[in-house]
Amino acid sequence: MNIVEIIRKKRDANPLNEEELHYLISNYTNKKIPDYQFSAFLMAAYLNGMNEEETSILTREMLHSGIVVDLSAIKGPKIDKHSTGGVGDKTSLIIAPVCAAAGIYVPMISGRGLGHTGGTLDKLESIPGFRTDLNLSMYKSVLKKCGTVLIGQTKEIAPADKLIYALRDVTATVESIPLITGSIMSKKLAEGIDGLVLDVKTGSGAFMKDYNDSLELAESLIKTAKSFNKKVIAYITDMSQPLGNYIGNWLEIFETIKILKGEIKGDLYTLSLTLSGAMLYLGGKAKDSDEGYKLAEQMITSGKAYDKFVEVVKLQKGNTDFIKYPENYPNAAYRKKIIAGKEGYLNKTDTYEIGMAALELGAGRKTKEDKIDMSAGIIFYPSIGDNIKKDSIIAEIFTNKKSSLLSAENKILKAVEITSGKTRKPKLIKTILK
Ligand code: URA
Repeated sequence: MNIVEIIRKKRDANPLNEEELHYLISNYTNKKIPDYQFSAFLMAAYLNGMNEEETSILTREMLHSGIVVDLSAIKGPKIDKHSTGGVGDKTSLIIAPVCAAAGIYVPMISGRGLGHTGGTLDKLESIPGFRTDLNLSMYKSVLKKCGTVLIGQTKEIAPADKLIYALRDVTATVESIPLITGSIMSKKLAEGIDGLVLDVKTGSGAFMKDYNDSLELAESLIKTAKSFNKKVIAYITDMSQPLGNYIGNWLEIFETIKILKGEIKGDLYTLSLTLSGAMLYLGGKAKDSDEGYKLAEQMITSGKAYDKFVEVVKLQKGNTDFIKYPENYPNAAYRKKIIAGKEGYLNKTDTYEIGMAALELGAGRKTKEDKIDMSAGIIFYPSIGDNIKKDSIIAEIFTNKKSSLLSAENKILKAVEITSGKTRKPKLIKTILK
């Protein structure tokens, strides 16, 4: 095999075969192909794309750069969910205990916050003591005991993805459907799952802002999952406004607890139960996703989902007092109310800017080394279509960094478009693909 010939082939928009993709991925992972040559391949793949078969082979090669966790000793359906992420998207934290309480296994390997979007691991680590760095034997043991486990990518899981993602990040090749598909699916397939529910976001706070791009990504993820004989359902869902009202790590745990206790409803509740319903259907606990939704809802009303959340927090060494008495913890030193400057209807929210305001307050990282302020964030009240009164509170911001208050306030005010005529609520679930 000749690396230059492989790059030339992709540069000229020809599909690569199994042998060539194996050569590329295995030799990049074991450092025999240098970054400059792999970068050239990435740019060629970005510009010329990869067909369905190439994408599936790429995924397989990335998957087998590490191990596939063997969960055969755990009897029962193992189903996970993947979301492409957004602002205030905390559905994983709700879905895991809901589905585990309903009798399926949910092994979740999640990520950290990226740019304007938060990450499940950072949110969980706002619960003091919570261990997201379990090794694979502890991963299996917690999963077997309580039906769910929430950890970060270990060194055994798709190591090729870690290296390739870091290179994509600095070579302007992140936004490529086949490369994103390989990256997402190699990590999910390594969990040892039987099925997967996908939540592909679209709108101003999403990674893919345009609906057609989201649709293309959803179709690519579905085809790849099917090529590995996995059961799969994809939802394309709205991210033109934050999901739920709370943004920021501890604030999102706080809202999760309220949802699990059945204290609040709204889009976050509906979407979490919809995705849970689909997972319960794929796991054979319901005859269809609608019946799954009802079963998921029973887990909330019966208190079983909340109890399951307490159980997993305890097993992963988190301080359960934070879950039982959330109003006592943690408080940011500075808070400010953001006031509407005029009367009207909320027409548009620049959700990316809301996410950036949360980052500014300390809820995210500007560089990899930044330390997150767990208590920082935003409670954002209005939804698109709502009537807003002049001088009403549209948001509250929380931080330990006083100097960030003004710029976060300005970002939020700029992100909110209030018009005099009535406006329409966006549809939460745009499309379902199977
Ligand atoms: N999330 C991933 O895990 N990989 C990508 O390439 C993009 C988003």
